[in-house]
Amino acid sequence: MAKQIALFNHKGGVSKTTSAFNLGWMLAKKGKKVILVDCDPQCNLTGMVLGFKKSDEFDAIYKGKGIRNIRDGLAPAFESRPTAIEPVICLTIKGQSNMLLLPGHIGLAEYEVTLGIAQELSGSLVTLQNLPGSLSHLFNITAEKYNADIMLVDMSPSLGPINQNLLMTSDYFIVPMAPDYFSVMATDSLASVLPKWASWSKQAKIQPLLQKATYPFPDKNPKFLGIIVQKYRLREGKTPSAAFQKWIDEIEEGVRTRLVPVLRQNGMLLPDQIYKAAGVQPAKPLIQMSDFNSLIALSQKHKAPVFDLTDKQLEQTGVVLEITKKSMRQFHEIFSAGADRIIAIIDNA
Ligand SMILES: Nc1ncnc2c1ncn2[C@@H]1O[C@H](COP(=O)(O)OP(=O)(O)O)[C@@H](O)[C@H]1O
Ligand SMILES: [Mg+2]
Repeated sequence: MAKQIALFNHKGGVSKTTSAFNLGWMLAKKGKKVILVDCDPQCNLTGMVLGFKKSDEFDAIYKGKGIRNIRDGLAPAFESRPTAIEPVICLTIKGQSNMLLLPGHIGLAEYEVTLGIAQELSGSLVTLQNLPGSLSHLFNITAEKYNADIMLVDMSPSLGPINQNLLMTSDYFIVPMAPDYFSVMATDSLASVLPKWASWSKQAKIQPLLQKATYPFPDKNPKFLGIIVQKYRLREGKTPSAAFQKWIDEIEEGVRTRLVPVLRQNGMLLPDQIYKAAGVQPAKPLIQMSDFNSLIALSQKHKAPVFDLTDKQLEQTGVVLEITKKSMRQFHEIFSAGADRIIAIIDNA
C-alpha cells in the first residue's frame, strides 16, 4: 500500500508547496511512483503544476469526463450521494512520468465545517459516519489505481478539521519551517495541538460507528520524519548568515526540547534505530537549504524542479550560467540526500 506523507505546518509561506513539488520530483526520480495531493483550497500546488493559470482555466481541467479533483472525489460522501467514492483521474506532470497530481479545488473549503462536526461528534451521528474515513479512502483507491508508492500531501496553513484528518490519517509527516520567529512560535503550537489530535484519533479508531462506516476511519499512527528548514541567506556562499543561524538554532532547540518529547509521549516517533539507520536525527533538519534565489522563478516558469533546469531554461550564458549551475547541483545533492533518508525510513519502518 502507498505510504502517505503529509507536509504540515499551520504557518503559511514556509515552503510546504515548494517542497512538495521538488521533493516529490526527487523521490520520483529515484524510482518511487509519487502522487502529489493538493489539499489546500488555495490550490497553489495545482496552479504551480499547471503553470499558474487563471481560475477559469482550472475549470477546464476539472471539466473532462470522470472525477478530476479532490472536491469531486469526496462529493459522494459529503453530499450524501448514492454513488460510491471512486479514484480521481490524476494529471500527468510534464518531464516526470513517475509523478502525478491529484488536483485541488477551492470548494474543498466548503467541506471543512461538516467534517469538523463529524469529527467532534466522533461517530455518534449515523449520517456523518462516512466522513472521517472518506479522505483516506479516496487517496487509497487513487494510489491503487496508479500503483503509487507515495502520496505526498500538501496542506493548507491551518489547524482546521481537514488538516487534523489529513495529519492523523497519514503514515508520516514532515514539518517545513522558515528560519524566523514565526516558525519558532509554530513549533510550540504544534506541541500543544498534536496531543489533542492524537487523542481524538485514538478515540476515532475504536468508535464502532466509524468502524462500521462505508469508509471506515483508518488505523494509522503517523510518525514524524523531521523538519525542513529553508530560505535562509548564505554567508560567503557556505553557511547560513548569523541572523538566520540564530533562528535555525532556536528552531532546533524548540524541536528538540519541546516538540520531540511531546511526539514521543504520543507515539508519533519511530524507534530510534530506524532514524539512526537512515542517518536522521529527529531534532535536526531532515533537509536544510538556502534561498533558491533566481532558480525559484525559473522553476515556476518552466514547471520544473529547482535542481533540474536545463541550460536553455536557465536563460543564462558564460560565467553567470556556470555559477547558477553550480548552485543547482548543490540543491540537487541536498534534495537527493533528503529523499534517500526518507526512502531509507519508509522502506524499513
Ligand atoms: N528555498 C526557497 N528559496 C526561495 N524562495 C522560496 C523557497 N521556498 C519557497 N519559496 C517561495 O516562498 C513562497 C512560499 O512558499 P510556499 O511553498 O508557497 O509555502 P507554503 O506552501 O508553506 O505556504 C513562495 O513564493 C515560494 O516560491
Ligand atoms: Mg502552500
